[in-house]
Amino acid sequence: MKIGIIGTGNVGTAIGSGLTRKGHKIKFGHRDPNETVADAAKWGEVIILAVPYESVTDAARAIGIIADGKVVLDVTNAVGDNMNLLIGFSTSAAEELQKKMPKAHVVKAFNTVFAQNQSTGRIGDEKLTLFIAGDDVKAKQTVMQLGRDIGFDPVDAGPLKSARYLEPMAMLLINLGYVLGMGNRIGYRLVKG
Ligand SMILES: NC(=O)c1ccc[n+]([C@@H]2O[C@H](COP(=O)([O-])OP(=O)(O)OC[C@H]3O[C@@H](n4cnc5c(N)ncnc54)[C@H](OP(=O)(O)O)[C@@H]3O)[C@@H](O)[C@H]2O)c1
Repeated sequence: MKIGIIGTGNVGTAIGSGLTRKGHKIKFGHRDPNETVADAAKWGEVIILAVPYESVTDAARAIGIIADGKVVLDVTNAVGDNMNLLIGFSTSAAEELQKKMPKAHVVKAFNTVFAQNQSTGRIGDEKLTLFIAGDDVKAKQTVMQLGRDIGFDPVDAGPLKSARYLEPMAMLLINLGYVLGMGNRIGYRLVKG
């Protein structure tokens, strides 16, 4: 697939390299006149939004109606000062993004995985679970396939509203990794009996 990735940081480049390995084509966009957000978004059949939470409004504005009818994959985590989650309970970063682009098919995924593990979906021999939330079934299936292509075990976590649970899961991971000292070679795996 042709995938426009907004953000050339840890996450954008990691997911980009995982997808390239499987033959997907990537165009990056960021705040650079030679690699614009609009160009990458227009080019991509799927748009991945991999910018800091505080930049989401700006990036979403730059994407605008280009996102109409497209899959927009939201990987963001709303982490504020002192590593606090800035949004939750009655909404989520993903649902707020959906409000900003009502005709896009917003899907939440990859936010529960450290960037260091996003290009393979594995830690050693262990496959990580990729939790995926979204309201559009086809869009969710597209993201599940992209996750599978990288090497993850994709799990449908329900409607976009489930982002309210996935976003705090990322906070736990960040705490385990960076506050409690486990480092970034850790991740979630759903065990099914
Ligand atoms: N790092 C992780 O392990 C991890 C894991 C899961 C989820 N996340 C989430 O993923 C997102 C990205 O994290 P990251 O670690 O990749 O961040 P990062 O390394 O700081 O990269 C952020 C990227 O966003 C671009 N950017 C910033 N503002 C922009 C704007 N207004 N329009 C377009 N591009 C913009 C930056 O490029 P320019 O400055 O050149 O525009 C940069 O390429 C965050 O929301 C984070 O919470 C991170």
